[in-house]
Amino acid sequence: MELPTVDSCLERWNELGTEFKSLEAINKVYLEKLEELSDLQSKCVKEISHQKYQMGIIKRSLKRIKVPKEDREKVDVLHRGFERRNGQITDIEHALPKPNGLYLKIILGNVNVSILNKNEKFKYKDEYEKFKLVLSVIGFLLSVINLFTVNRLLELCLLFLLVWYYCTLTIRESILKVNGSKIKGWWRLHHFISTVASAVLVVWPQSESWYLFRPQFMVFNVYISVVQYLQFRYQQGVLYRLKALGERHNMDITIEGFHSWMWRGLGFLLPFLFAGYFFQLYNAYTLLHLAYSQPNSPWQVAVLGMLFFVLFLGNAVTTVMVIPQKVQENRRRKEGLSSKTHSQSTSQGEPPTSATISIYFLIIN
Ligand code: COA
Repeated sequence: MELPTVDSCLERWNELGTEFKSLEAINKVYLEKLEELSDLQSKCVKEISHQKYQMGIIKRSLKRIKVPKEDREKVDVLHRGFERRNGQITDIEHALPKPNGLYLKIILGNVNVSILNKNEKFKYKDEYEKFKLVLSVIGFLLSVINLFTVNRLLELCLLFLLVWYYCTLTIRESILKVNGSKIKGWWRLHHFISTVASAVLVVWPQSESWYLFRPQFMVFNVYISVVQYLQFRYQQGVLYRLKALGERHNMDITIEGFHSWMWRGLGFLLPFLFAGYFFQLYNAYTLLHLAYSQPNSPWQVAVLGMLFFVLFLGNAVTTVMVIPQKVQENRRRKEGLSSKTHSQSTSQGEPPTSATISIYFLIIN
């Protein structure tokens, strides 16, 4: 190999200088595009508020008008148009940066957590679900070990892991929310309450009451880890199917298939979820009974009893409410679909499909 000389180094340096000029040119274009992007984003935001403001004016005017019979069809068309436009605006908003909510502002400050690319959004959600799965597997293993051994260090490993896990979930879910997730407020609150409950477990002294409740708590954790695995399977199924739907053209047929799959998934998951809620109620009962029967037991017993009861109540009510909400969503979608089918089938001389009957048929199946 030839030894380098000062001249060869100088020559290479000059070449690098030329390459750097092209890097500078690329960077200049990049900065221009960034500025252009930021301009386009502000234009979109302005146009969105214009659309919303003008729609508000039209809606208020419509409310003031006494609509004659022959114009009712036109008003229906307008209302359907508003609904469609709101959906389109929401889609546009999803591709625009959003300010952080209060919780994120407190813990992260004003750093931008908006994910503007659909694929990146999908990846983030996928990663969130996988994170929950990995942590529930670790939680499962630690709970099983703790069930068969009594070791404070292992116990604390599990309890600290729970505090960290739920705390991390609240942050990840707030980021998902900023990025357009429709996650219900209760599930986020549920994870805040679970963080508090895990912290109370950490500071529960090694007393008689703790050792009385400990085995039940470990079994509960094992059960919850299994339920979390089932939830993962369901959420992962929804996520991948919806992604596939977004990439296909024949939406009507594939959405039908998606909904029948979703109902089957829910039908399988719900009994496990409700068994978990009754386990939470049983935990609340055991703890409150302990607090009542042993008046000198530490404060953690009664507080945890109440927290488990709140979790049971919130989870059960929210999950019960999911079912009619999904039936309603389905019905609205089917009605939209059937009006489309109607206009198509009347032109083809075929009878329209009945939306409601098929939804109930899907539920029964
Ligand atoms: N945790 C986090 N995110 C949740 C959630 C939960 N428990 N339940 C729903 N979501 C998310 C969904 O992934 C979806 O997100 P996206 O808008 O980013 O796509 C959004 O919230 C809307 O979901 P929704 O359509 O209301 O419900 P679903 O069909 O996704 O799930 C259930 C319905 C009932 C299966 C689900 O809410 C669930 O598993 N609940 C039970 C949770 C529980 O009880 N945990 C404790 C176990 S004892």
